[in-house]
Amino acid sequence: MTSTPDRLDVDFNVPFTHRLRFTENLLDKEADVLADLLESSDNKPARVQFWLDQNVAESRPDLVSLLKRFVDSRPDRLQRIGAIQLVPGGEEAKNDTHLLEKILKVFNVSDLDRRSYIVVVGGGAVLDAIGFAASIAHRGLRLVRIPTTTLSQADSGIGVKNSMNLFQKKNWMGSFAVPWAVINDSEMLSTLSNRDFIGGFSEAVKVSLLKDRVMFDQICRAATSIADRDMSVAMPMIRDSARLHLDHITQGGDPFEMLEARPLDFGHWSAHKMETMSDFSLRHGEAVAIGVAIDTVYSSLELGLSKKTAHQVLECLGNLGFHLCDPSLSNVKVLFDGLEEFRQHLGGRLTLTMLKDVGEPFEIHSVNRDKMLTAIEQVAHFAETREAFQSES
Ligand SMILES: NC(=O)c1ccc[n+]([C@@H]2O[C@H](COP(=O)([O-])OP(=O)(O)OC[C@H]3O[C@@H](n4cnc5c(N)ncnc54)[C@H](O)[C@@H]3O)[C@@H](O)[C@H]2O)c1
Ligand SMILES: [Zn+2]
Repeated sequence: MTSTPDRLDVDFNVPFTHRLRFTENLLDKEADVLADLLESSDNKPARVQFWLDQNVAESRPDLVSLLKRFVDSRPDRLQRIGAIQLVPGGEEAKNDTHLLEKILKVFNVSDLDRRSYIVVVGGGAVLDAIGFAASIAHRGLRLVRIPTTTLSQADSGIGVKNSMNLFQKKNWMGSFAVPWAVINDSEMLSTLSNRDFIGGFSEAVKVSLLKDRVMFDQICRAATSIADRDMSVAMPMIRDSARLHLDHITQGGDPFEMLEARPLDFGHWSAHKMETMSDFSLRHGEAVAIGVAIDTVYSSLELGLSKKTAHQVLECLGNLGFHLCDPSLSNVKVLFDGLEEFRQHLGGRLTLTMLKDVGEPFEIHSVNRDKMLTAIEQVAHFAETREAFQSES
C-alpha cells in the first residue's frame, strides 16, 4: 500500500493460534487436556470461571462436582472463581438481552481480567451467548469452549463468531473473537436427545458439499448409522467437519468475513429466516438441513448441478432423519425477506454461495425467485412423498 507523510495506510497482520483438542473422557481420565490449556500468569494459578448450559448440567448431575474437583485438586495451577454458573440452554440464551447484562455483572463482581479464563460447557446457543459476553468484557477474556452438541462440535464451536439475537433477527448483535481453545469431547454427546444428536450433521453435509466429495459420499453411506447413533461412524464425521471448519478459518484467508462471500453459510439465508419465522421451534441444524436442500435444488435448476447429485443430497439429509419441510416455507413472501437480511448482515451486494458440483462452490449475486420457489416446492414435495412412503411401509 502507498503512503505519504500525511496519509499512512499500513497493512499489518496479527498472529493467532487456534487450539482444538479431541477427547473421549475429558471430565475424568483426560482432564489434563483442559488443565494444560489454562496457562498461569505471573506464577499464580490460572483464574477460571465455569459457565454451564443448564440442560447439560441437569442431564449430567455429576458435572458440577466433577468440575469443582477438577480445579480444586490442582490448587497450585488453578483457582476457581465464583460459583459454577448455569445459563438456560437453547435459543433462549441468545434471545434474552437481560441475560447478557447478568453475565457481565457476574464477570465484574468476580474481578475477571483479560488473563482470566471463561470455560463454557454447552450447546451452540450457550456458547454464542457466553462467548459474546466474554468478548466484550474488558474487550476480551480468554474463552475455552467445550461444545456439547454435534452441531457445536462439528461447526459453531470451532468458529470465531459469537452472538445474540436482536430485533427478531438471528445473530444481529455479535463479535468476532478467536477462542482461546476448543475441546470436542465425545462423551459430552451421550446425553443429547436424538433430535439434537442428528441436528449437527446438516452442517457436516454442508461443509462436505462445499469442500470434500469423499467426505460427502462417506456421510451419505453412513447416514442411517448416524441416525442410529453409531458413534464409531458419527465421531469421524464430526471430526472431519470440525477439521474442515478449522482449515477454512485458519487457511481460508477471510476468518473475519471482510470479503464479499460467506461460503460456510451455504443454505443459511433461508435457514436463519425459518428459525425466526418458526419462533425458534425449528432448531438451527434442522433449518440448515432444509436450507441446504433448497439451495441444492436451486443449484440444480439454475447452475448446472446434476439432478442426480441434488437427489443424493436430499436422500442423505432424509436418511439422517431430517424432516425437510416447515410451515414457514408456505409463507414465501416473508421467507424471501431473508435474502435482504442475509445481505445486510455482511453488507455490500447480495452474495450467496451455491453449488456447481460437490466441492465446487459458486457465488451468485441475484436470485431467480421463480426458480427458487420451484426449488422450495420440490423440497417440500420430496419431504411429503418420502414420509408418506415411510408411513406406508
Ligand atoms: N457462532 C457460529 O459460528 C455459529 C454457527 C452455527 C450455529 N450457531 C448457533 O448455534 C445455535 C445452535 O446450537 P445447537 O444446535 O448446539 O443447539 P442448542 O445450543 O440450541 O442446543 C439444543 C438443546 O440441547 C441442549 N443440550 C445441549 N447439549 C446437551 C447435552 N449434551 N445433553 C443434553 N442436552 C443438551 C440445549 O440446552 C438445548 O436445549 C444457534 O443459535 C445457531 O445460530 C452459531
Ligand atoms: Zn449454521
